[in-house]
Amino acid sequence: MSYSKLFFVIMAICMVTISCKSKIDKIVDNMTLEEKVDLLVGAGNESRWVNDSVNNVLKLLPGVAGCTTPFERFGIPAIYLCDGPAGVNIEPTREGDDATYYCTHFPIGTLLSSTWNDELVQNVGNAIGEEAVSYGADVVLGPGMNIHRHPLNGRNFEYYSEDPVLTGKIAAAYIRGIQQQGVGACPKHFAANNQETNRMSNDARVSERALREIYYKGFEIAVKEGNPKCLMTSYNKINGVSVSEHRDICTDMLRGEWGFDGVVMSDWYGGDHPDQQIWAGNDLLQPGLTWQKDSILAAVKDGRLDEEHINTSVRRILNLVFNSPRGKGMVPNNKPDLDAHAAITRQSASEGSILLKNDNQTLPFSSSVKNIALFGCDSYDFIPGGSGSGEVRCAYTVSMLEGLQNAGYSVDPVLASQYAAFIEKSKAANTAAVTPRFAELTRIRPDEMPLSESDISAQQARSDMAIITLGRTSGEYYDRPSADFRLSDAELAMVQDVCRIFHAAGKKVVVVLNICGVIETSSWKHLPDAILCVWLPGQEGGNSVADLLSGKENPSGKLPMTFPIDFVDHASNVNFPVDQKSENVSVVLRRKDIGERNVDYTNYDEGIFVGYRWFDTRNVEVSYPFGFGLSYTTFDYSDIEVVEKRDKVTVSVKVTNTGKVSGKEVVQLYVGAPQNVVEKPVKELKAYAKTSLLEPGKSTFVKLTFNKQDLASFCEKDNKWVVDNGSYKLMVGASSRDIRFTSDFAVTK
Ligand code: BGC
Repeated sequence: MSYSKLFFVIMAICMVTISCKSKIDKIVDNMTLEEKVDLLVGAGNESRWVNDSVNNVLKLLPGVAGCTTPFERFGIPAIYLCDGPAGVNIEPTREGDDATYYCTHFPIGTLLSSTWNDELVQNVGNAIGEEAVSYGADVVLGPGMNIHRHPLNGRNFEYYSEDPVLTGKIAAAYIRGIQQQGVGACPKHFAANNQETNRMSNDARVSERALREIYYKGFEIAVKEGNPKCLMTSYNKINGVSVSEHRDICTDMLRGEWGFDGVVMSDWYGGDHPDQQIWAGNDLLQPGLTWQKDSILAAVKDGRLDEEHINTSVRRILNLVFNSPRGKGMVPNNKPDLDAHAAITRQSASEGSILLKNDNQTLPFSSSVKNIALFGCDSYDFIPGGSGSGEVRCAYTVSMLEGLQNAGYSVDPVLASQYAAFIEKSKAANTAAVTPRFAELTRIRPDEMPLSESDISAQQARSDMAIITLGRTSGEYYDRPSADFRLSDAELAMVQDVCRIFHAAGKKVVVVLNICGVIETSSWKHLPDAILCVWLPGQEGGNSVADLLSGKENPSGKLPMTFPIDFVDHASNVNFPVDQKSENVSVVLRRKDIGERNVDYTNYDEGIFVGYRWFDTRNVEVSYPFGFGLSYTTFDYSDIEVVEKRDKVTVSVKVTNTGKVSGKEVVQLYVGAPQNVVEKPVKELKAYAKTSLLEPGKSTFVKLTFNKQDLASFCEKDNKWVVDNGSYKLMVGASSRDIRFTSDFAVTK
């Protein structure tokens, strides 16, 4: 572009910004206090708010999580907020309308981070943004990006990793993708929202250092690199104060230090003191309740809240509204490109699947494999995603059975119908046994179908090999019970018996993990020949897995968290509500604080020693380390070069595909710091890079870059970030425990 053209473009952008600003200032000057407060308190929930104009717009998008209040007299439309960590969550059908409004169910957050591929995640975000804008949503409530502090957190599936750098970078990519479509993204739940038990009121008691280095860090990266239009505060308290009422967090740090200039909104019904939320810089209360409005008005009237705070939040919300698709006059076309998005989810899910074991090249299947014995209820009732607000109402899901059939394999129809009957019966029994409320909140899974020796032997005689799928799901409101981590007796018996009978006949067994989060693997992983972790891979799941099994795709996912021997090995386990039996500790209501440990409050005594930072520093044996994942090919790292330029350190690595098939490799850069001022983990991830698809024999260079400031620890005594002087160790690895190259570099000042 020529300089004169560039000048005109910049001028045009400035003019639009100025005119939007003066329009907003004029509106603020002319709004009554009541109107301003109406804008701060969402219009989504109570009948009182649902006047005709709101009612009409709400009907436009059934299933939205919330909306803002419209004002006809100022030409301010309502804008729509839809959940979306794995796709847009709206009602697929509408009363009196034959059309359907299905959205694509993309893979869960944990699978997206397992790709370690920012570009791929940005494409997924972009597709979600396209569906949002087509259906008329203005803000997508995602990404979910809390740290996997403990494997049993019920919402880990929506989140990315136990590491803040991976979390932040993947979240930033997702945000950029969504916002390319003009829709706003809303990373959540800011911050330290690491358990569902008593999620509305739990007090996370965390050191400032752990907050800064672990629990805020991902959000900081996402804000700086993704520039989200919104951010959602979490329900919990941090050190005694609800996050949405914390001015230090929502204003001083978020806006002052990080430069965030968007709208901060509460989680749904979050916070106890609306006036303090507005004072703190939590601009929008969702979905919006009458008493919240009254409380803000009363605080202004009796002088506890300065109207200027209200004006500030009103300006931010109006800026969001006028720059939203609806604010710009866009009309939903209700025609997202669902076919193109099905292809995107299918490919993403295979790229984020992790090959944990592959003895004697069991995978991909050789050309002699035609008939497959398919065991495990989840093979037939495949799980696309978790439950709660992170759910997506998609048009179809592809099971393992269907995926294998689509790829041309045959599966015994008699076994398939036995499983179908068992699943139907056990689902009916489960639903009858639980209260309707519980049934509505969690997706009840069938228990495993018991298999007799003769059933398995008959399958063995008919098949070339066996696949066993093990499934786990979880969702909002509940943490996973400890039993969910381990295999049930029936599951273990199935794995043992199938492996024994098939191996005796010289046939191989593959275990597919269709899971929401970490499970126990160390006691049984020696049994099957191969293990493929496919997480909850979205609506095309069965096809994505078949693409990997058949060799059409080569797995290149790596673990975004550690698979420990047992969850009790986590340092956080002492302070996590494992199998908490207290009454009223979950669902949506706040409970009276009775000072119960791990319920009313949780001490994050482990500090920064979360995940591999703990396991690797203390040399604790694990089942699979952070960053681990195999491929159908092998990679060699060479020609490693470290270049320091002012504050930047760049490590370049030559990666060569030394195997026989094309594949992608994720290279990880860890740094070990000197232990002068504070205790540091032996290594921390500072950068990662993924190669493009490399053909056998081909090489490429990847560059891993970080700033020296990224080496800083948060020094609580001085309340600031400090980079220690001394010798630092650079480690280039294929996982946190497969370090291929180390080098030292010094920081002097
Ligand atoms: C969840 C949020 C979600 C909101 C709106 C809350 O219960 O915690 O993640 O965005 O509901 O559905």
